[in-house]
Amino acid sequence: MSDIRLNRNTGLDLVRTTEAAALAAARWMGLGLRQEADAAASAAMARALDTLELDGLIVIGEEPRRGQLVALPGGRAVGTGRGTPVDVVVDAIDGRRLLAQGRPGAVAVAAVASRGAMWAPATAAYMEKLVVDRHVAPHLVPECLDAPAAWTLGLIARSKGKAVRDLVIFVLERPRHKDLIDEIRAAGARVMLADDGDVSGAILAAMPDGPVDALMGIGGAAEGVIAACGVKALGGGMLARLAPQSDEERRAAIAAGFDLRQILALEDLVAGEQIFFVVTGITDGLLLKGVHYQGDRASTNSLILRSETRTRRVIFAEHLLEPGGPG
Ligand code: FBP
Repeated sequence: MSDIRLNRNTGLDLVRTTEAAALAAARWMGLGLRQEADAAASAAMARALDTLELDGLIVIGEEPRRGQLVALPGGRAVGTGRGTPVDVVVDAIDGRRLLAQGRPGAVAVAAVASRGAMWAPATAAYMEKLVVDRHVAPHLVPECLDAPAAWTLGLIARSKGKAVRDLVIFVLERPRHKDLIDEIRAAGARVMLADDGDVSGAILAAMPDGPVDALMGIGGAAEGVIAACGVKALGGGMLARLAPQSDEERRAAIAAGFDLRQILALEDLVAGEQIFFVVTGITDGLLLKGVHYQGDRASTNSLILRSETRTRRVIFAEHLLEPGGPG
C-alpha cells in the first residue's frame, strides 16, 4: 500500500462528484426508472471524477447490467492521472429503488484511500455487517458476529451506557433477516427497518450522536467496503464477513480464494488513515437532505469525512443549474 499523504482538500474536491451524481439523479425521483437514473448519475459522477487531480483506480465499480457499458466499471482509471495514486470506490446511487419510488434515503457516495488500501470483494455480492460508533468500537470482538444478538446488544448497551431497550438497530427489511429481527426484538431493543440503503445505515450507526445505535445484517459487499471508509473516518467500529446468498456466489467466492469464515475488521476493509468519504443526499433522508430545486437553482446537502483528522464537515451548497444540464 502506498502511504503518500492525500491532499487535505481531497474531500472538498471529491464532494463535487457526489453532488454531480445527486443533481443528475434527483430529476429521476419517483419516475420508476432505476436504470436510467443510475446511468445519468454515474455519467455525471464519471465526468466530475475525471477533473480531480488524482491518479485514481476504481477498485469496486458498477456491475455492467444486461451487457450494457457502464460509466464507472471496476479497474477504470479516474482523475487527471497527475495526482496521488489512490483507490476509489463509488456508488452514484445507493438506494436506486428508493429513488425510483420517490422514497427517502437515496444517496450518492464516493471514497478514496491510499492505493492498495481497499479490500476488493471481487465477485462476492453479499456481506454480513455489524457497525457501531466510537464508544462501542474498542469493545467489539469477532465473537459479536456469531453470538446471539442479545449478547452483542448487551455489549453495545454497556459500552454506550444505555439500556438495551433504548437501543435502535438498523436492519434491511429482507426475508433473510427474519430470525435476526426476531432476536433483536426478543432481546428488547428497537428495530429500524429500512427498505434499502445500508451505506447510510452504517454511517448513521457510526455517528455517536445519531438516531441509530448499530447496524446489523447482510447487505452488499461493495457497499460494505464503501461504508467502511466512512465508519473508519468517524472512528467507529465494524466487523464483516462474506455471506453468499446462492450456491453460485458461494462457489465463485471460494474459487476466488476467499475464506468464507474470515471475519474482517475495519483495518482489513480499508487500511491506513489516508481516507476520505463523501456522501450527498438525493432524496431527503435521516442522514442528509435531498436535492431541492428552485427555479434555476438546486441545493444539495453533503457530509465530508476525513479519517486522518476525524473531521466531519456538513455542507449545504446552492448550484446554479446550467440550461440543458443535468439539474
Ligand atoms: P442499490 O441501490 O445498488 O440497488 O443498493 C441498495 C441496497 O439496499 C444496498 O444499500 C444494500 O447493501 C443492498 O442493496 C442489499 O442488497 P439486496 O437488495 O439484494 O438485499
